[in-house]
Amino acid sequence: MHGLVFVTWEKYLAERFGTSLLADYRQRIGESASDAPLASRVYEDERLLAGVAVASRLTRADVDTLLLEYGRYFILNGLTSRLCMYLLNQVHGGRDLLLMMSQAHEQMSQASEGIRPPLFGYGETTGDPTGMYLYYDSPRKLCSLLHGAIEGAGIRYGERVLVSEQTCMKRGDAVCTFAIRFVHPSTPLVSSPHPGAPTTARMSQGPMPSQPAPEQEGRWEAQHWLADQVYAVLPEAGGLTLSEVQEMLRARFPDAVEAARPFLVLEALNHLHHAGWVVTSANEPGDALGNRRYWRAQRVGS
Ligand code: HEM
Repeated sequence: MHGLVFVTWEKYLAERFGTSLLADYRQRIGESASDAPLASRVYEDERLLAGVAVASRLTRADVDTLLLEYGRYFILNGLTSRLCMYLLNQVHGGRDLLLMMSQAHEQMSQASEGIRPPLFGYGETTGDPTGMYLYYDSPRKLCSLLHGAIEGAGIRYGERVLVSEQTCMKRGDAVCTFAIRFVHPSTPLVSSPHPGAPTTARMSQGPMPSQPAPEQEGRWEAQHWLADQVYAVLPEAGGLTLSEVQEMLRARFPDAVEAARPFLVLEALNHLHHAGWVVTSANEPGDALGNRRYWRAQRVGS
């Protein structure tokens, strides 16, 4: 599984339970400072599943509660927000984010070997444009994490979310089915999300996120422009190093030398990688930032 999941999982443990719990956790799973997870790498699924079991023993919280909280955290924390900016800034609501994530996860699997994205299917509800069904199929059966991520998607865009899991792989069903309704906080909630939805449906409401400041929007536009230019100079195979990408940008845009600064180009490459559009050699033996190569991932659906 992708390193971003491992890094944010440990960040969640530290922020939720404290850094001494994280130190204890790392000791129990035999993780030293030198093999702490990196967002640029891919790790075995078992490492996460074993880690969740250890965290459950240490915190006395059950596994599903931890995964649900972590799923919410995954969508809202600063690192995902930064690295997955390219995806998250394309939409303005939880429903649209969910609808985008099936293809987006599949695209991510083109960018790193060892990624096995969850399969999502979508269903409409009759007579309620705010409602939807999400069908989830994954050998990992991380439906609690998914539940939290759905709540996080609503919170991220300042919406209230009603969500209930109606069928579950862990109870022997073929897939997990979630009935979901995203509502603007000013809309009164008059009925259950869908006919037959359990009355125990969880409702979460997060803080209203503030509108992005104009300078933030301007910054995002500049980052988007640079990411597009970086993508344009990358080859289909073989790859270029960071400094080679810089050289090509400088040659193409002699008047925009500032834009080709290493930090900015690296950030653009990271955004493209986390959207699944760029492959890196980060998991190859002997990889280091100086010799890491980048090339275009195959586009899903093209
Ligand atoms: C509401 C939106 C999202 C939902 C519901 C969601 C859901 C999930 C779930 C349930 C998994 C666990 C994998 C499995 O079940 O097999 C997962 C994995 C993952 N998600 Fe998302 N996700 C969302 C948004 C994002 C975003 C914005 C990113 C940013 C790039 C992202 C990146 C990933 C990555 C890298 C993995 C690991 C895949 C692997 O290594 O196999 N997700 N996601």
